[in-house]
Amino acid sequence: MSVHPHIKRVIFTDQQIKDRIIEVGKEITNDYKDSKELVLIGVLKGSFMYMADLVRAINLPNTHVSVDFMSISSYGHGTTSSGVVKINMDLKADIAGKDVIVVEDIIDTGLTLQSLLVNLQARNPASLQVSVLLRKKEALKVEVPCKYIGFDIPIVFIVGYGLDFAEKYRELPYLGELKEEAYKN
Ligand code: XMP
Ligand code: MG
Repeated sequence: MSVHPHIKRVIFTDQQIKDRIIEVGKEITNDYKDSKELVLIGVLKGSFMYMADLVRAINLPNTHVSVDFMSISSYGHGTTSSGVVKINMDLKADIAGKDVIVVEDIIDTGLTLQSLLVNLQARNPASLQVSVLLRKKEALKVEVPCKYIGFDIPIVFIVGYGLDFAEKYRELPYLGELKEEAYKN
């Protein structure tokens, strides 16, 4: 596999990501066997690849499984999130009375997700859980309920597999640590 020159090291290969998502999909399949209606909410843009692989790893023939997307941005300056989210694009459908899983790419401080969950809870879903591909456990500033976690990672800046820096590197099939010189110029 050829690695992009701006990547310091590959953290998880595409195969490792796929294998882990199969396991997460099995867990979700098992937990939602009795669900009538399950909505997976992808948070754009970072979660688009994770969503595509996760939904294929869920096998619930007796459940109405649907996919919806939101685009949010966190108010604040520079790289620190303020914890107040602005909704740039909202869901198309009503989630009241439905089982909901938020599908996120990464949790850093947890502030963005915490604010999003308050917003979604107010819409009265039957249940609300989170599936996040990556969690920077040591960076968490708030406790966020996060039931399905792909991988815990150290506090480094990750790109690839949907995750970007300045809209670059989303297309990489693996998750990699970005070289410092790539975000300094
Ligand atoms: P908080 O701190 O609110 O932030 O949990 C979560 C959001 O911050 C972005 N983020 C990253 N994006 N590589 C990225 O591509 C990273 O290593 C990274 N860390 C945080 C991301 O938008 C996430 O939704
Ligand atoms: Mg995000």
